[in-house]
Amino acid sequence: MADYLEFFGLKDDPFKITPDANYFFLSESHQEALSSLRYVYESGEGFAVVVGEPGTGKTLTLRKFIDSLPQEEVRFAYILFPNLSPEELFEAILEDLGIKSEGETKNRLFAKLRDFLVEERTKGRKVLVIVDEAQNLPDETLEELRILSNLETEDTKLLQIILAGQPELEEKLSSEKFRQLRQRITVFVKLRNLTKEETKAYIDYRLSKAGKGNIVVSSKAYDLVYRYSMGIPRLINIIMERAMMAAFVESSHEIKPHHVSRAVESVGMRLSEEPFSKRVALISAVGILLAVLLLSGGYLLLNNFPPPLEVKTKEVVKTEVSKVEKKKEVKEVPDEAFVAVPMLNMREGPDTSSEVIYLLREGDRVKILEKGPETWVKVLYEGLDQPVEGWVNGKYLRPLKGE
Ligand SMILES: Nc1ncnc2c1ncn2[C@@H]1O[C@H](COP(=O)(O)OP(=O)(O)O)[C@@H](O)[C@H]1O
Ligand SMILES: [Mg+2]
Repeated sequence: MADYLEFFGLKDDPFKITPDANYFFLSESHQEALSSLRYVYESGEGFAVVVGEPGTGKTLTLRKFIDSLPQEEVRFAYILFPNLSPEELFEAILEDLGIKSEGETKNRLFAKLRDFLVEERTKGRKVLVIVDEAQNLPDETLEELRILSNLETEDTKLLQIILAGQPELEEKLSSEKFRQLRQRITVFVKLRNLTKEETKAYIDYRLSKAGKGNIVVSSKAYDLVYRYSMGIPRLINIIMERAMMAAFVESSHEIKPHHVSRAVESVGMRLSEEPFSKRVALISAVGILLAVLLLSGGYLLLNNFPPPLEVKTKEVVKTEVSKVEKKKEVKEVPDEAFVAVPMLNMREGPDTSSEVIYLLREGDRVKILEKGPETWVKVLYEGLDQPVEGWVNGKYLRPLKGE
């Protein structure tokens, strides 16, 4: 680990931006979101919707929720890039659930999914479809999801759907078109930004999780972090990590206000005496954090010090996403790679119809053992007491060494 962690006496990087459920901080709002999701799961009814600005913790909350479920009793599909036609969405869901399908008609795909749901129900298992970044669902596809959610036996629904997305999702759902879907929403939770007190508690919590060490944060520094992050956890992490580096460079164990200002400058946020106008701040924040995550996510894992950041606009970042998605072939097999999507199924064999044996998480490091058909690779994951081996789709991995 980085020298600066040693300097601060920490065991782990307290502000890494990959979602790590061990660092989950239960703010009032995250608590509410989690218990609402559990409620929907228990009751087996309808849709659950979680909205929040980027970086407020939607994906991490979903992950925490999934972790809390009895894994033998539930099957789920997790869709991260839902900008899909109805057919493509059905295919993606089937693929995640481990059912083969190729070039089939929408009706055929629908029937396959229905059969699967009925079968799982007779085995006493629940099936969840989780759509992240659901603001990107085309209208037509969202409508198909509603129809899908109507599938039921005499008394209960066969499928539960969770939509998580940015505030645009709420706008979309409030349009007249989705009146019927709206009636089916049983819980609707909004993740709000952390308050000033929560921001301080969040920072302290993450520091103590990482080993506490000998780091002190001045009360003015807390205030500044709150002001520039607006209480958005992802931004708090980015600012705090850089503030720690700035303090380290000065051999200071105390994080002081000027370290925070330097951190904020280095990520290209606008420094101002006045609190930001919310919209401007959000736009720049969104740009920065997407850029940080997408363009240098892998880099951050490779290097102790993140590279200087370029602030990209949302559009630029979006094209980067589609490039990443399109990169289907893993050309050279690297020795080690990390998981580049929030959740990734590890299977017994190199195809989607074989059993899921483990669920990898974003940032998990794996050793590549063997290249299989198409983009499949066999990997070894050693982050558990017992190492696990299995097959994953290599298009969701990024190499740890070189490109
Ligand atoms: N409740 C929380 N506890 C701990 N860390 C959090 C929490 N919420 C967000 N984070 C941090 O912020 C980052 C962004 O969260 P994420 O779930 O990806 O946000 P979103 O999906 O809303 O854009 C996470 O990787 C994590 O480091
Ligand atoms: Mg997310």
